[in-house]
Formats: sequence, structure tokens, C-alpha cells
Amino acid sequence: MTTANGALGFPEGFSWGSATAAYQIEGAANIDGKGPSVWDTFSHEPGNIRGGDTGDVACDSYRRYREDVALMASLGLKAYRFSISWPRVQPGGRGPANSRGLDHYRALLDELGEHGIEPTVTLYHWDLPQELQDDGGWAVREVAERFAEYASICAEALGDRVARWITLNEPQVVSNNGYRHGQHAPGLRDPQAAAAATHHLLLGHGLATQALRDLGAAEVGITLDLHPIRALGGTGDGDVESARLITDAMVNGLYLEPVLFGRYPVHAPAGMLPPPALVAGGDMEIISQRLDFLGINYYSPVFLRAGDPADLRRNEVPARSGSLDVVEYRPGRLERTTMGWLVDADGLYEILLEVSKQAPGLPLYITENGRAAEDYVNPLGEVDDIERVRYLHTHLQAAARAIRDGASLAGYFVWSLLDNFEWAWGYQRRFGIVFVDFGTQRRIPKSSARFYSEIARANAVPPLPAG
Ligand code: FCB
Repeated sequence: MTTANGALGFPEGFSWGSATAAYQIEGAANIDGKGPSVWDTFSHEPGNIRGGDTGDVACDSYRRYREDVALMASLGLKAYRFSISWPRVQPGGRGPANSRGLDHYRALLDELGEHGIEPTVTLYHWDLPQELQDDGGWAVREVAERFAEYASICAEALGDRVARWITLNEPQVVSNNGYRHGQHAPGLRDPQAAAAATHHLLLGHGLATQALRDLGAAEVGITLDLHPIRALGGTGDGDVESARLITDAMVNGLYLEPVLFGRYPVHAPAGMLPPPALVAGGDMEIISQRLDFLGINYYSPVFLRAGDPADLRRNEVPARSGSLDVVEYRPGRLERTTMGWLVDADGLYEILLEVSKQAPGLPLYITENGRAAEDYVNPLGEVDDIERVRYLHTHLQAAARAIRDGASLAGYFVWSLLDNFEWAWGYQRRFGIVFVDFGTQRRIPKSSARFYSEIARANAVPPLPAG
């Protein structure tokens, strides 16, 4: 819907929110009975995180949650996606609940309720209890069962305050970064463990979904990071097209197809698929039971073109598909953020329409979208993050166009509310619409916070400036 001033409107009731994750913002790493998570362990091992940073303090949001909720309310945001730290609720990942951990989330949820902010709760945003990792982590089937148990505890304790649950955040990243390439916790470089983890994460999603539903959860979904895979240089190149299908299966299909259709993708390399012995009868049905919605995290696409991985040109890297005559390429015309991630709003439009085609009518939420930038406080005491304003502008335009063209998008959560602990990058990458001075914990809303706030209040995105 276009309004009189050329703005693109969003459907009535569209959710405007921001997203965070427990380990990235809470701090309070070992109080109130919390057990260690894999990220506590990993971040304390020298060499794993830029600058030797850890999440011990982060944004101190465990203590400052009232201030953070007030901040969201002042921006007119009506939805908040946050995650529960499993080891706060079950310090060792098994056994009885730690009531002090649950009390914290009750208090946070009550505070949100008082400000009219609707919660979307992620049960797993990467902070596995260390004791479960000591027994093999997601490479072991039992963890999927423990995860469902933890989901039940959360549903019982918090279900009266939470209508929308997300089981897992980005299982692709857990499996690849955590178990295959090792730049995330638990830091393994073990392809077999990664393939097993993929299946057990998905099974955990399915079992937790059942557990949540059994306890009356209204809406249950999963969040996947999705990336359009584009072949450059036109069609007709068989090698590039086959690399495109393999890459798509590796990053998207390996998670999307089991969840939507109960099957692993035919184009996935055999080494990434769980060995048949790990897939018990009935698993794929558990994994593919009905979703109430799908959460999509969108950051960037992947481009492929013909090339020689043994003789790389500028902006090329070897294709992750392992294809011999194909390379991944980062087009020079596209901006790159300080993460090295390409900025391409059309990719968001594409992914929304593609998923809508594969799962007609399934409500979609963009559960993360945003960018890192070199933010700083200027002499006026302000943070004028024009790159992020432009990013949000183009991506929200893309989202509005996708809705116009048939995507059933129900909400958008900007990543992130606050600058926070950006995993292997520590505090050296800022994604917030609110600046955090980590020395003083002072929060300063950036220009992007004001821009986003206006869009949320108007439920419409203004036209892009000409040129
Ligand atoms: C996503 C993560 C999120 C954040 C953003 C930048 O992959 O889900 O926690 O780190 O990237």
C-alpha cells in the first residue's frame, strides 16, 4: 500500500521489534546459580576472540533490563526477540530447574508486558550448557532430548507470559562455525561431528516443538539464516549452475528442507548429511511437523562465477561447494560492511518470495537483519550512523515490496537493539541501533534508532531518496 507521501505501508498489526541474544548482552556470567555455557568456556580460551573479549559483562543487561525495556518503549517498539540462557535455567543442561534463573526471565517478561511490548522468545541462541558439551554436545543424540526437556521447563514456567517461541537460532551457523570450522564455540573442526550436529539440532527443534505444543504454546517456529545463492555471468554454464545447487543445499536446504518437507536436500554433499545410521525411523516426521511461522535472518547473498580456485582473482575465494571451475565472488559494486558482508537489499526480497513460494501462506518473520558499522560518538555526543540508516531504509523497502508481491511477512526485528558481544569479533563490531559505551554501560540511541522508530510508529517506510 502506497500512502500519499509515497511511503510504502505495512499491514495492520505488523510487528516492529528489535532482537538480542542472552550471551551477547546479559553479562552476569556466573551469578544466581547459572552454570557455564560453551561460550563462557570458548571465550575464556586465549586466541578465540578478538581482543581477548568475553561475555562476562557484555551490556550488563541481566541487571539493566528495566532500562533496556524502557529504551525500547521510548522508541515505540512493540516487539522484542530475546533468548533464554539454557545454563541459567538448567545449570548443567539436565535435571531440575534453577528457579533464580527463571525468576529473571519472569521479571523481564513482566517488564515487557507493562510496556506493551510483545515477547518472541528464542530457546537456543548458541549457549549450550558446558556439561552437555563435555558429553559430546550436539554431536550426540541425547542433547536433542535434553533440549526438549529444557523447552518444557521454560513453557511451564513462562508459558503464561509468552505466546511466540523460537526453538533454535541459525542451526547452520552452530553446525558449520561451531563444529566444522571452529571459529565459534565449541571450536571443533570435525566434519563428522558437524554432520551429526545438524541432525540432532533439527531433531531437537522437532522434539522441543512437540514439548511446547503439549504445554499449550500458541506459536512455535525456528529461525534460519537464509542466503540467496546467485550465479553470475548468465545461465548456460553447467558448472556454475551445479555449484549453485550444491551451495544452496549446503547453506539453506540442509535446514529448510527437513523442517518444511521432512527430507534432506538431494544436492547436499554426502559428507554434510547425517549418516543414515543416525536418522532413526520417525525422526524426519518429528522434524517436519507443522510450523506456526518461520523466522528468517537475512544478512547477505552468495555469488558464484566461473573461475579457478587455484588461481584466484581479486574478490574471489574458493567455492565452499568444492567445485573445480567455480569460485565465490564478491562483486565490487556492492558495499561491504566491516564484517566483510555484502550489502544487498534485493536479496531480502528474493528470499522472502522464494520461501513464500516453497511454503505458501506460512507466516514469516524477519527475526534478524542489520549491519555492522564504524560507529563513534561525535563531539555533539551523538552517533550519526548514516550507513545503518541507509541499510534499514533499503531493506525495509525490500520487505515492503515483498509483502506487496505476496510474501506473508508478519514482523521485522532489527539486529540489534544494542551494540553487544559479537561472538568471535568480541566488542569490535557494532550492530546496535543503540550505542553502548562498554566502559560506562551508557546507552546512546543512534540516528538509526530514531529513523527506525519513525518507521515503526508510522507503520510505513518512506520513499528512498532519488539517485
Ligand atoms: C547472526 C547471529 C546474531 C548476530 C548476527 C550479527 O548470525 O544470529 O547473534 O551475531 O549474526
